[in-house]
Amino acid sequence: MKVLVIGSGGREHAIVRQFKNSQSVTEVYVAPGNDGMKHDATCLAIKALEFEKLASFVRENGISLTFVGPEQPLAAGIVDYFEAEGLRIFGPTKAAAQIEGSKSFAKELMKKYDIPTSDYETFTDVNDAKDYIRKMGAPIVVKADGLAAGKGVIVAMTLQEALDAVEDMIGNQKFGDSSSRVVIEEFLEGEEFSYMSFVHNGQIYPMVIAQDHKRAFDGDRGPNTGGMGAYSPVPHISEDVIKQAYNTIVVPTVEAMTKEGTSFTGILYAGLILTSEGSKVIEFNARFGDPETQVVLPRMTSDFGDFMTSLMDEQPFELEWSNKEIVGVVIAANGYPEHVEKGASLPDLTKLPANLHFFHAGTKEVKGHFVGNGGRVILVAAQASSLKEAQQQVYDALADMKWDGFFYRYDIGWRALT
Ligand code: AMP
Ligand code: GLY
Repeated sequence: MKVLVIGSGGREHAIVRQFKNSQSVTEVYVAPGNDGMKHDATCLAIKALEFEKLASFVRENGISLTFVGPEQPLAAGIVDYFEAEGLRIFGPTKAAAQIEGSKSFAKELMKKYDIPTSDYETFTDVNDAKDYIRKMGAPIVVKADGLAAGKGVIVAMTLQEALDAVEDMIGNQKFGDSSSRVVIEEFLEGEEFSYMSFVHNGQIYPMVIAQDHKRAFDGDRGPNTGGMGAYSPVPHISEDVIKQAYNTIVVPTVEAMTKEGTSFTGILYAGLILTSEGSKVIEFNARFGDPETQVVLPRMTSDFGDFMTSLMDEQPFELEWSNKEIVGVVIAANGYPEHVEKGASLPDLTKLPANLHFFHAGTKEVKGHFVGNGGRVILVAAQASSLKEAQQQVYDALADMKWDGFFYRYDIGWRALT
């Protein structure tokens, strides 16, 4: 079968790679993709929000399945559009994608169905929000209601930070419409992990878990980013904890979505935190995590094309995973996440040891070599028999190359390894 992947980041490169390695997939297209994916797929000059052009391409080229990577086309209704055209697509409808696109929607759903999460209130008025913050005290968490590329969350350790965040978001519309409404929630403490599942018509296939590193700098300092690196498995989160999260969070959420008339198809990403009261939901996403995908999908040993076909056809499937452990480090452009500097030259990536994987996120080819063309530029990952070994392999390889104009964290995996 031929497949089309929508999106252009490192996550989409990992999805493309997984399809490329499938016996049942003859051709992989990606729209729009990026220059670094050209060896793995045919990149189309169609953007993720050009639904009509995408659907025409799918129809004219006999594409069997379209797989949506990022949240924006989902929130804009790509799945509704394709389904109305009778085309097979994997992702949630616009209504179901609200579980990510509106934090207040997700919070209300969790409250109604007793799915564990932090206490919260929703505000559209600056003064009401500030009064609430003064009443609750710090630490406290302020979140833009809508999509903000992973940057719309302020974990305020002081009252002033929280008050400023509200002023920025509602008052100064820092994220435009996305922050005209904010969710203010209780600060939770514990170990975070990302638990993603393939979901379709009530079928749930959970994946192995991963841990992201959201802060820009070593030791989890600096601003929140889309994610600076990830690893899988997460050895300090036990199988029992995962099983409990499956039963108390994943299954009830999928059932709740169905009961609400917004049945979920796609990747349900649960961002969880293990507190003294058990796992609680920090956020839901309606798509694969980035960079988690780049360390989770390569661990899948089942044929991805066969699995996706079985899932869509609602046939049982034994989904299998490798015991090998993966550490993936994001190379970001200087200035990320606030003021990204584009255009710096990357070193020759063909010099990376052959046992490492790398995924292109924001690169462009200029006269035969790659330059940075986004905030997160590439992710370099090693798969080994232990996280420690994988971490060593990645950092040894990175240390051997020049990264002028870029930076990366030196401590991806530290929570598991120290
Ligand atoms: P989010 O985009 O909702 O995943 O939030 C980004 C990051 O902010 C999370 O990965 C957490 O580290 C942190 N965070 C979000 N909500 C909370 C909370 N209620 N308590 C503590 N930390 C949080
Ligand atoms: N890495 C977190 C996310 O994809 O939202």
